[in-house]
Amino acid sequence: MCFSSEMDQTLYFILLLIALCSVSECVQRQYHFINVRKNWTEAQRHCRENYTDLATVDNMNDMNELKKSVNDGRVWIGLQMTSVDKWQWSSGEPALYLNWGSGQPNDGDECAVMRNGKWHNLPCSNSLIFICSSSNNKLVFVNQMKNWRDAQSFCRQNHTDLVSVRNQNESQQIQKFINDSHISNDVWIGLFRDSWQWSDQSNSSFRDWAPGEPNNAKGDENCAIISPKSPRQWNDVSCNDLLPFVCHEGDFCLWFVLCPDKLILITENLTWTEALRHCRQNYTDLVSVHSVEMQNKVMNVVKRASTEAVWLGLRHSRILGIWYWVSGETVCYQNWAPGNGTGDEDCVSAVRAGAVQSGGDQRWISRPEHHKLNFICSRYEE
Ligand SMILES: *[C@@H]1O[C@H](CO)[C@@H](O)[C@H](O)[C@H]1NC(C)=O
Ligand SMILES: *[C@@H]1O[C@H](CO)[C@@H](O)[C@H](O)[C@H]1NC(C)=O
Ligand SMILES: *[C@@H]1O[C@H](CO)[C@@H](O)[C@H](O)[C@H]1NC(C)=O
Ligand SMILES: *[C@@H]1O[C@H](CO)[C@@H](O)[C@H](O)[C@H]1NC(C)=O
Ligand SMILES: *[C@@H]1O[C@H](CO)[C@@H](O)[C@H](O)[C@H]1NC(C)=O
Ligand SMILES: *[C@@H]1O[C@H](CO)[C@@H](O)[C@H](O)[C@H]1NC(C)=O
Ligand SMILES: *[C@@H]1O[C@H](CO)[C@@H](O)[C@H](O)[C@H]1NC(C)=O
Repeated sequence: MCFSSEMDQTLYFILLLIALCSVSECVQRQYHFINVRKNWTEAQRHCRENYTDLATVDNMNDMNELKKSVNDGRVWIGLQMTSVDKWQWSSGEPALYLNWGSGQPNDGDECAVMRNGKWHNLPCSNSLIFICSSSNNKLVFVNQMKNWRDAQSFCRQNHTDLVSVRNQNESQQIQKFINDSHISNDVWIGLFRDSWQWSDQSNSSFRDWAPGEPNNAKGDENCAIISPKSPRQWNDVSCNDLLPFVCHEGDFCLWFVLCPDKLILITENLTWTEALRHCRQNYTDLVSVHSVEMQNKVMNVVKRASTEAVWLGLRHSRILGIWYWVSGETVCYQNWAPGNGTGDEDCVSAVRAGAVQSGGDQRWISRPEHHKLNFICSRYEE
């Protein structure tokens, strides 16, 4: 095989990039500082019209990048308070695997410890020992009493972050580590809850609040800024303040090989069964929408559909009288249009399957499975 010298160079460049960056680092965000004063909502609109959205920050690398692009005053980022709070990991990952002790979590307390292998929530201001994760997923026990936030800072500065427990396997490894380190007291892990949400609906739980923040000092401090004070951590302020802001543009991929789309809209019109066969043969499966994050991704994809509804991997079993995902999950997260999803929409004949509306508020509707619709295949491995 032979290459022209130009191809040689391209190939060399690609190999160099593969060598230099892991996949996640290659998926970059570009930040744009807009030095015009607007309230948070107007800033959001400006970003959505001209870029992708107000800036999201996934990790410390993003934060360092962001700091380079802004001036030295107060600057909006895309983080806003909502009315729903959720448990998440300090490292920025959503908490999918849960391992609460009985009766946990209780209302109120917003940080979590590991106790006899199970999680319990306690006030974040308690002083406790903690476990950090360091590079290569190594665990580090820190035998110093700190509140959760200080423990987090310690881990971030000296290791990677407070430890995440993402599955049963990791839970066992951490329990073994706790046994081997002869720890018998409660230890902080990286689990916390808050009700802040990124403007682009990203599920990143990365937070870099300045000490004592957010404190809602004025009672209406529902939007986040980068504070002017070094080291430029975050502060909560009133969303009506007029401030410059940072937008971000795409999570763009350097090339498709590294980050192909995980959801694929197929604009052929097929029955639900044909659609299922198509997805299973050519991708992984018809899409399962078991979280808000996935629903958001689906809503993005269905905008381009040519039918008013688009098949999901959702099917009704008449015998059991339940809806289920073809990937095997039960339907916990739900987003049905009113009147749909009860299973008795149609007492006559047809077997029913689930679709998402391609317009409107993009809820799920129930359709006879022989209707012909566009559909979404997924490449996610369950
Ligand atoms: C957001 O959620 C998706 C799917 O649940 C996951 O693949 C992705 O890694 C999450 N994003 C972050 C920043 O953790
Ligand atoms: C990092 O570790 C050093 C040495 O133990 C300690 O003095 C320092 O305070 C730690 N950093 C943070 C942010 O706690
Ligand atoms: C559990 O973790 C260990 C150590 O990282 C790994 O070698 C093993 O394959 C994991 N097991 C499963 C089932 O993931
Ligand atoms: C840790 O120790 C407890 C009690 O000593 C024991 O029941 C448990 O199986 C141990 N866990 C691991 C993962 O070694
Ligand atoms: C699928 O159906 C829609 C709506 O009936 C139609 O506009 C579209 O052209 C059809 N697509 C194909 C590929 O037949
Ligand atoms: C897989 O994709 C090819 C190309 O789009 C298509 O012709 C084929 O019918 C698909 N397989 C199934 C089972 O639909
Ligand atoms: C299902 O939702 C659609 C869209 O909102 C609505 O038109 C339809 O009447 C609903 N079906 C039933 C049985 O209520």
